[in-house]
Amino acid sequence: MPGIYDEPELYEAACAYRDVLGEVDALLRWSGRYRHSAEGPLRSVLELAAGPAEHSRELARRGLDATALDLSAAMCARARELAAADATRLTVIQADMRDFSLGRRFDLAITMLNSLCHLLTLDDLLKHLASVARHLAPGSLYITELAHPADIFAERRTSSEWTSELDGGTVRVRWGGGTDEIDPITQITREHVSITYHKRGGSVRTVTDVVPNRFWSATELVAAIRLAGGFAVVASYGDFDADTPVEAPDAWRMILVLRREDMASEFPAPAPLTATTTPAKTSTTPAS
Ligand SMILES: C[S@@+](CC[C@H](N)C(=O)[O-])C[C@H]1O[C@@H](n2cnc3c(N)ncnc32)[C@H](O)[C@@H]1O
Repeated sequence: MPGIYDEPELYEAACAYRDVLGEVDALLRWSGRYRHSAEGPLRSVLELAAGPAEHSRELARRGLDATALDLSAAMCARARELAAADATRLTVIQADMRDFSLGRRFDLAITMLNSLCHLLTLDDLLKHLASVARHLAPGSLYITELAHPADIFAERRTSSEWTSELDGGTVRVRWGGGTDEIDPITQITREHVSITYHKRGGSVRTVTDVVPNRFWSATELVAAIRLAGGFAVVASYGDFDADTPVEAPDAWRMILVLRREDMASEFPAPAPLTATTTPAKTSTTPAS
């Protein structure tokens, strides 16, 4: 039975609500702000758990040497196919983000759309952080976008059901929510996912799946990052479009900007989750 990540076209349709160009603008803005530029201009990016590699393909189109890594063979094939379709140079690697070795370093690493939820244990997260650290030069950034903790601890700020119009068709999505409950011990929710795509012309395709999703709180992440060593949290944001602080009432994502420290500061001082900039608008966009 194919799962959601075996059906890249349906996955893409479900996630088509995103403003990928705006998100890439934010990634580049934050790179300019926080990356130490002693090693020269930003030249390369590694996208982890990349799926169809929306962000790394766009970064490649903007001139970066881009690599996309994903565990799913179907997602890797789709990323390659989409890159080839518009002659975008993209290296695609099928590997496990918990432990990988690519034999080179990058100027920036990114993980988008709460993909760290697939790291189900602290050991997985620590191995992942160590792998990412090995692939970044000191001063380089790892930017990771997670679900906002208010989704668990307060009122949900994202929708678990949404409908989008796409290429003259309609996509109906359920991603968790409803009767799906977080296990209070493991912090894992077995999320029931269904995507139905009514295409223009009448064909209908559906995929259903149950996807384990580990919730990581802000304080757990900061603790794990300190335990792993090699990174400092230099900023956090609650949205992509206007530098919304993660603490803001209208924050709907938790985006952490980590900077690779040199070995002398392997265990950096505690960094509060604070952002540096101004509040911004409310977003009602759905997200997983
Ligand atoms: C929610 S999707 C996000 C895809 C992409 N980041 C995006 O923004 O559209 C999660 C992705 O993580 C991948 N994944 C899950 N576990 C993984 C692992 N251990 N290593 C690498 N990729 C993994 C899945 O195959 C899937 O493509």
